[in-house]
Amino acid sequence: MKPRRIGILTGGGDAPGLNAVIRVVAKSLLRRFQTRIFGILDGFEGLVEGRFRELTYDDVSGIFTRGGTILGTSNRADPFRFRGERDRSDDAVKNYRKLRLDGLIVIGGEGTLQIASRLSQKGVRIVGVPKTIDNDVWGTEVTFGFNTAVTTAAGAIEAIHTTADSHRRIMIVEVMGRYAGWIGLYAGVAGGSDVILIPEIPFEFQKIADFIRDRHRTRRFTIVTVSEGAIPAGGGQVISRLVKDSPDTVRLGGIGNVVGRELERRTGCETRVTILGHLLRSGSPTPFDRLLAGQFGLAAAEFIAGGRWGEMVAMRRNRIVGVRLHRMAGRVRPVPPDDPMIRIARAVGTHLGD
Ligand code: F6P
Repeated sequence: MKPRRIGILTGGGDAPGLNAVIRVVAKSLLRRFQTRIFGILDGFEGLVEGRFRELTYDDVSGIFTRGGTILGTSNRADPFRFRGERDRSDDAVKNYRKLRLDGLIVIGGEGTLQIASRLSQKGVRIVGVPKTIDNDVWGTEVTFGFNTAVTTAAGAIEAIHTTADSHRRIMIVEVMGRYAGWIGLYAGVAGGSDVILIPEIPFEFQKIADFIRDRHRTRRFTIVTVSEGAIPAGGGQVISRLVKDSPDTVRLGGIGNVVGRELERRTGCETRVTILGHLLRSGSPTPFDRLLAGQFGLAAAEFIAGGRWGEMVAMRRNRIVGVRLHRMAGRVRPVPPDDPMIRIARAVGTHLGD
């Protein structure tokens, strides 16, 4: 089909590479079909409230390397439970129709894509694009934003070695990642962390403390990378706040301080904690993420042209495939036990807490 009017929105937490997708979608459709592109502002909030702006060729020029999203985003705007209360999905559908869109590209993580799936059941023609620094979207082997987050975190873990060594300390570095340990594991291995704690492998304080005491007979310091979702055996995740009007209400954070206190107590070694937080989502996407986002953007434009509604573009074995949105409901992608980075970590004696 020749798409005449297409909407595009970015939902959930931002991830470096969103603008690269927007640029490739918009430029390729503008050049090929003279499609009019409407950017929906601030994620689903803009769809419910009817806030949008038309994107010209110039609007999407010069944004390939820029982090964040030129459209704005929101992870507190589920149309089915707007502001945590009313179902305003009919307003979202109404505004989609009012704009006379042939289809809508929704770029988001698990929560956003689940909303997209529900809206497509109400007749909105949607193509999904996965994004998240967490790398946990089911159905695709990689998401853009992840490489940038790992690059930033690995750089921090590498850098912190010098002060750890000077002071003979345990240094804890807490990284984001929600319920999956992708960022912690990959950044920890790349940055040369001595201990890596991820949600997929519940950890035992005493085992880590014993490892550190033994290690400090010959070494001056220990670097511990902790994913925000890491779980002490028999315990629970540390929650920093609840966001009641978000598709996922729980915000994790704070496990680094718990681990720091406990390891200091058990080893007697002075300990400091650094929480990298939103820094991992900030700044320009790495060239890898720009190229990945570009591939997803072009694929989304092609899915639109091919009328492949209700599908998410995904990467499997380095090839673009489509995944039906309704199949994703409630599914995330944890680190598998035989992931190559787990195998490397174990092979070189990095402690995984178990
Ligand atoms: O999903 C991306 C992410 O950055 C997670 O790693 C983190 O747990 C969460 O979003 C933080 O959300 P917020 O921006 O609402 O604090």
